[in-house]
Amino acid sequence: MAKQKTIFYCQNCGAESAKWVGKCPSCNEWNTYVEEVVRKANEPIGNFRPVTSEPRLIQDVSPTIVNRVLSGNGEVDRVLGGGIVPGSLILLGGEPGIGKSTLLLQLAIRLQKKLLYVSGEESAEQIKLRAERIGIQSDACYLLAETSLDLVFSNAEKLRPDILVIDSIQTLYSDRLDATPGSVSQVKECTAQLMKYAKQTHTPIFLVGHINKDGAIAGPKVLEHMVDTVLQFEGDRNMVYRILRTIKNRFGSTAELGIFEMQGSGLREVTNPSEILILPREENMSGIGIGATMEGNRPLLIEAQGLVSPATYGTPQRSSTGYDAKRLNMILAVLEKRLGLRLSQQDVFLNIAGGLRIQDPSLDLAVCAAIYSSFEERPISQKVCFAGEVGLGGEVRSVNQIDNRIMEAEKLGFERIYISRHQQKSEAAIKAKLEVVPCGKLSSVFFSSTGIFE
Ligand code: TYD
Ligand code: MG
Repeated sequence: MAKQKTIFYCQNCGAESAKWVGKCPSCNEWNTYVEEVVRKANEPIGNFRPVTSEPRLIQDVSPTIVNRVLSGNGEVDRVLGGGIVPGSLILLGGEPGIGKSTLLLQLAIRLQKKLLYVSGEESAEQIKLRAERIGIQSDACYLLAETSLDLVFSNAEKLRPDILVIDSIQTLYSDRLDATPGSVSQVKECTAQLMKYAKQTHTPIFLVGHINKDGAIAGPKVLEHMVDTVLQFEGDRNMVYRILRTIKNRFGSTAELGIFEMQGSGLREVTNPSEILILPREENMSGIGIGATMEGNRPLLIEAQGLVSPATYGTPQRSSTGYDAKRLNMILAVLEKRLGLRLSQQDVFLNIAGGLRIQDPSLDLAVCAAIYSSFEERPISQKVCFAGEVGLGGEVRSVNQIDNRIMEAEKLGFERIYISRHQQKSEAAIKAKLEVVPCGKLSSVFFSSTGIFE
């Protein structure tokens, strides 16, 4: 018998090696290589093979009209680029407990389509219990608790569902391989076979993928290359808001974003996020700065809360939730050096309201304002918001899509917005009814006569 070919795979990043190595040269993790049997390449797996293999002029290729299926969930349709594309393989990644199963089950039981929900993690009874919390509306949602891919396929062939949901890819295994479920080669093989099924039968497939501690889906990045769309579900598990982000999309923009609120009866779509992220305050407190940020193509006004208090023990603490901790340190250094704030003996805490994680650098100015306001113990006017990146020289820099930010701030009733002076000529800045204050340096924001304070 021919010797079986084996390869060592890094379980963290999916890198391959012919021999075992202690430290992965690609992701630098230790002890992540595991030997796995490779299937003999007697048939090409995975990717869809077109019928003709002759080159054609691009003008001669007639575009197929894609009839997208609306999922009935506005936020999901938005991140998918306007509905589910037939035959597409959609990977939904997220940390455990974030709500991936809830989201897909919710789609499954509300969609008036024949749907097969395969779960390798929960029994049909458990799923039913959860579905009852959310409220079952569909009469064509089939549940299957199964981990063998071949049985999933034979059931799918009998049932011929319009949509297939797999929860999760890490629990599936294919008999063609000896490797354990969740290993790189199993995950790759199962995804490739599912891809083939999706393309051949034009069935859209949703795949759940767990995320490891570094935020990579299933460890192996390989999965992301194979599927059509990668969605990521994120947010703080203990908070109610969740963000659904597009990481990759062959059928739409990756700048889209959906926002949900986790309730007792499932996930609620949040159509106007700014209104819930900025709570009306009866009495004005110091340490709050509102930033006009963008998440994808969506303007989002968000509250940055800062707390500065004298350090009681030796080294002052710096803590940040929802905002990059390194960036907070940079901002503190800029405030110290350029504005002369004596922060070195102060504890500084920063929190982004709602448990959201914001990557947009335009929040910098609001963060500066929140910290400055707490340091001075002077509340910032509730009618003021900020949109600017802060550079090392203490300068306020331009941000993208400034018009959208200004318009959203105006819509929400803000009376003044601070932006970079380089953007004061933008269309919305000229037209807007709210006062647009152009800023050069941080000092001009905080020490000017048109103050930010009440
Ligand atoms: P789950 O969807 O199982 O997360 P994942 O599949 O990503 O691991 O569970 C998400 C959490 O949401 C779980 O801790 C319970 C909670 N939850 C609610 O708050 N309300 C609900 O209606 C449901 C179904 C779950
Ligand atoms: Mg789950």
